[in-house]
Amino acid sequence: AADVSTDLTEVLVTEEQIQAKLGEIAARVDADYAGKDLLLVGVLKGAVMVMADFSRALQVTAPMDWMAVSSYGAGTKSSGVVQIRKDLDTDIMGKHVLIVEDIIDSGLTLSWLVENFTARGAASVEVFALLRKPEAAKVEVHCKYVGFDIPTEFVVGYGLDYAERYRNLRDVAVLAPHVYS
Ligand code: PRP
Ligand code: MN
Ligand code: MG
Repeated sequence: AADVSTDLTEVLVTEEQIQAKLGEIAARVDADYAGKDLLLVGVLKGAVMVMADFSRALQVTAPMDWMAVSSYGAGTKSSGVVQIRKDLDTDIMGKHVLIVEDIIDSGLTLSWLVENFTARGAASVEVFALLRKPEAAKVEVHCKYVGFDIPTEFVVGYGLDYAERYRNLRDVAVLAPHVYS
């Protein structure tokens, strides 16, 4: 059974650091999108926590839609194959889309999403990722808003899972290798 005290090696980003950063980025987004038709698009399931807290840190009221894609399955490595599991409910033609993500790892998920949303006729497509692993990038993704750059380690918590577990941790922490090896 999962035991947080033995499954994690270190906390990388605390709950307090996350909330402070969300406040800073929300203020930038409020200013950058003033007077624009902003649509927040969360990427299920990892972005659930960041969307919940980030959207409530905004002053503007913006509609929210969700896309479910997955490239990891139950493993720790990206397969590189992006699968749509749930499409958007709304037409994004002419909308200023801000994709809300928990993490950019290889960049494959987001580069695919940005291209897909651009092809649907969005007025603009930008990215907010709470975490980014710069050294793991396989493709470059232009990310306008980045919370924290982190080392290339397997991290869980605050929405990030390993085999669907650990999403409900409040901090972002490094998963101990014995859990997945
Ligand atoms: C994780 C994470 C990002 C993506 C990043 O999602 O939440 O969406 O991988 O990896 P990449 O930059 O290498 O594409 P995952 O596919 O595990 O689905 P989940 O959000 O449901 O956990
Ligand atoms: Mn995800
Ligand atoms: Mg995952």
